[in-house]
Amino acid sequence: MIKSIATTPFPDQRPGTSGLRKKVAEFQRPRYVENFVQSIFDILDVFHGETLVVGGDGRYFNREAIQTVVKIALANGFGRILVGRGGILSTPAASNLIRKHGAFGGVILSASHNPGGPHGDFGIKYNVSNGGPAPEKVTEAIFARTKSISEYRIIDAPDIDLDRLGPTLLGPGEVVVIDPVEEYAELMQKLFDFDKIRALFQSGFRFRFDAMSAVTGPYATRIFEDLLGAPAGTVLNGTPLPDFAGHHPDPNLVHAKHLFDLAMSVDGPDLCAASDGDGDRNLIIGRGLFVTPSDSLALLAANAYLAPGYAKGIVGIARSMPTSRAADQVAARLKIPLFETPTGWKFFGNLLDAGKATICGEESAGTGSNHVREKDGLWAVLLWLNILAARRESVKDIVEKHWAYYGRNYYSRHDYEEVDSDGAHALIEGLRAALPDLKGKTFAGLTIAETDDFAYHDPVDGSDSKHQGIRILFEDGARIVYRLSGTGTSGATLRVYIERFEPDEARQNLETQAALADLIGISRELARIGHFTGREAPSVIT
Ligand code: G1P
Ligand code: ZN
Repeated sequence: MIKSIATTPFPDQRPGTSGLRKKVAEFQRPRYVENFVQSIFDILDVFHGETLVVGGDGRYFNREAIQTVVKIALANGFGRILVGRGGILSTPAASNLIRKHGAFGGVILSASHNPGGPHGDFGIKYNVSNGGPAPEKVTEAIFARTKSISEYRIIDAPDIDLDRLGPTLLGPGEVVVIDPVEEYAELMQKLFDFDKIRALFQSGFRFRFDAMSAVTGPYATRIFEDLLGAPAGTVLNGTPLPDFAGHHPDPNLVHAKHLFDLAMSVDGPDLCAASDGDGDRNLIIGRGLFVTPSDSLALLAANAYLAPGYAKGIVGIARSMPTSRAADQVAARLKIPLFETPTGWKFFGNLLDAGKATICGEESAGTGSNHVREKDGLWAVLLWLNILAARRESVKDIVEKHWAYYGRNYYSRHDYEEVDSDGAHALIEGLRAALPDLKGKTFAGLTIAETDDFAYHDPVDGSDSKHQGIRILFEDGARIVYRLSGTGTSGATLRVYIERFEPDEARQNLETQAALADLIGISRELARIGHFTGREAPSVIT
């Protein structure tokens, strides 16, 4: 029943920031999924008879890939495979299941916020037993294995019915199809005050959640409409579709502009929110005000004590290096540590496991806590709802009071997408070489105080990660950061992060791009972006 099949390596199976991510067509090549999945299992420690969690964001090719993963996992000795019904599991729900069931790990099929459909993207990611993404040493070992693999093992069996709940004995083990929402909804009820949020909805509070035709639809409908009593129709685009209805399931101001426009309308909802393809990101827009993810992290950390799950306070905050330093102000006032890590959620896992941080976040719309080991879109929305239910003030009032108290960090990210890869690397190398000479130089009246190429020493496992982004710090505390994306699937994407701190309440109501105009000009001049990328302006501004 178990077959060993000869194969030859693919040279391009290096996992990036969030696992292996490529165009669907590449994954559809014969043996491509098989090789990668077998390589994962080849480098793991003994897992005979153990449990593996498998699920994906429902995008095109999800069902086919799940069948392959399950059959290879059983052939390699896993005893029990937990699969979400229809092959669906949001990334945070998968993380929760791994933890709750004491699973050995999980295989998550997702390309997050990237477009889906036959011409879109696909991805495979391995998560370890704490529920979080595999650390770099594991992903590097997987990559090394993909280069020498010569056979994979798979059980010879008909496909599993992914739509029928319950266990099926298959080959040497069993496959259990589970409700993807249930255990996640239970966890949320432990963390948040559902009675208070229900009362908020009963008071007439108006809320819209856009699931973007991606994985969070069933979770959101169950939690917001069924359990919390929000009116039917609160959840928009709530049915997961393989091509996300042709949209880009990225909850930002470009791809969720309709939500932004709705929130800005005079009679708009009190809160509009969205999540991405696999449910780990969030977008928060109050009536008349978009909350930047960096501000949201700071605000959630400052107000977390209002939710039962965090009533005893938080022990520390972690943010990725390019994320604005708004959270640093909160950590300082709360007298708790602030950890600055490289981009990517995997660096938070150790801090959470070691009990050093409770709340983590990234500027790229990812926020989460120690309840799972992934960022969690619905969790962030629920914490916002809990805070709003407890404070009974508008989003705008809460944010403006926060700025008045802690200061405002004007912040924006400029992305130059799909630029020539050689040019983008030359730009970063050029900056790196120029770093020592930049110190003390003045651009448009602003003097550079410090420069570095960010390196991280993990305080828990002692590992070092180098070259994580070029940082330019100005004397007035403003900051420009440059790095290349690790998640793109064609060409290179240059990300430029621009930030300025404004403690004066009287100057906290400027339009962001205007407040950062001089720094934006400097960011282009200093790195010679036009020269290296051939672009005069970014493709996306968030
Ligand atoms: C991007 C974000 C990063 C996030 C990652 C996965 O990575 O910038 O914060 O963790 O997606 O969602 P990047 O493309 O910048 O490497
Ligand atoms: Zn995602």
